[in-house]
Amino acid sequence: MPKILDGVAIAGQIKLEVAEEVKALAAQGIRPGLAAVLVGHVPASEIYVRSKVQTCADLGLYSDLLTPPDAVTTEEMLDVVRSLNDRDDIDGILIQLPLPKQVDTKILLDAVSPDKDVDGFHPVNAGRLQAGRPALAPCTPAGVIEILKRSGIPIAGQHAVVVGRSDIVGKPAAMLLLHENATVTICHSKTRDLGAVTRQADILVAAIGRPGFITPEMVKPGATILDVGINRITTREDFERYFAGNQKREAAFTKRGSTIVGDVHPQAFELAAAYTPVPGGVGPLTIAMLMSNTVRAAKMRRGL
Ligand SMILES: NC(=O)c1ccc[n+]([C@@H]2O[C@H](COP(=O)([O-])OP(=O)(O)OC[C@H]3O[C@@H](n4cnc5c(N)ncnc54)[C@H](OP(=O)(O)O)[C@@H]3O)[C@@H](O)[C@H]2O)c1
Repeated sequence: MPKILDGVAIAGQIKLEVAEEVKALAAQGIRPGLAAVLVGHVPASEIYVRSKVQTCADLGLYSDLLTPPDAVTTEEMLDVVRSLNDRDDIDGILIQLPLPKQVDTKILLDAVSPDKDVDGFHPVNAGRLQAGRPALAPCTPAGVIEILKRSGIPIAGQHAVVVGRSDIVGKPAAMLLLHENATVTICHSKTRDLGAVTRQADILVAAIGRPGFITPEMVKPGATILDVGINRITTREDFERYFAGNQKREAAFTKRGSTIVGDVHPQAFELAAAYTPVPGGVGPLTIAMLMSNTVRAAKMRRGL
């Protein structure tokens, strides 16, 4: 039976450690602070931001939620970011994406001070990460590494194959794995004979954004699989394709009319030595690492 890598439990451990650190900083008169900027009323974004703000409260961090209206301009958003860059009570700035069409996301993210860039999206942090300097790394790939390390899965010398090369998941995941001394291969939509490459993976990271894309014949038996994908499926046909015979999922699907599947077909997990389930695998790590990055930013900014 493959081992299920329990992201909820690992995220819980990290949050406990963050809460301890926050307590220790409080003794020095420091309270790490996160500013969350939520534009307009995108329901999924509202849920994400609410849970980030709640987690700050749970762990003792200060948080400030800013909610500019839907019609906000790039210039107005730049003013918001500049004022957060200047505030001493704010250590981390989170701009919830996506932003409305009229706002230039790239200009805005580049305006966030790299030292407060707790999402790790700023090119300065990408450069620091690549150069092996202290950097705020993007939360989801940082979570992937935490799962591997805390589960005792060796990384050094292993062949890690990352499918996906986005700036927020694939590329930084590959870089972090390289820093842990894995031999890393990055695949993408132009990779020839993808299955031949993924079948070589001791550690397979799937960050593609396509439901059940990694099928059993693309996996080496005994591999560790980290499934970053989050894809909502709503049709009975899709449900049967991924979860036929899974009674627990069936009940949830019937109740809600949808369920989540990762980028890895559930049958492919059966070949693995260990894997992260979806949901409950990589997902929970993202908020935990955001909290950890905020505390880290607070310390780095003060030279601690
Ligand atoms: N767990 C979390 O907290 C979390 C956080 C972020 C993202 N996610 C999920 O992770 C997934 C990836 O997110 P992302 O932001 O990295 O997505 P993205 O920006 O759309 O990137 C997808 C990557 O997959 C590659 N790809 C697409 N089709 C492919 C194919 N047929 N064969 C090989 N590679 C292919 C793309 O290649 P090209 O570069 O060649 O186009 C691209 O590099 C999504 O499901 C997203 O929802 C989860």
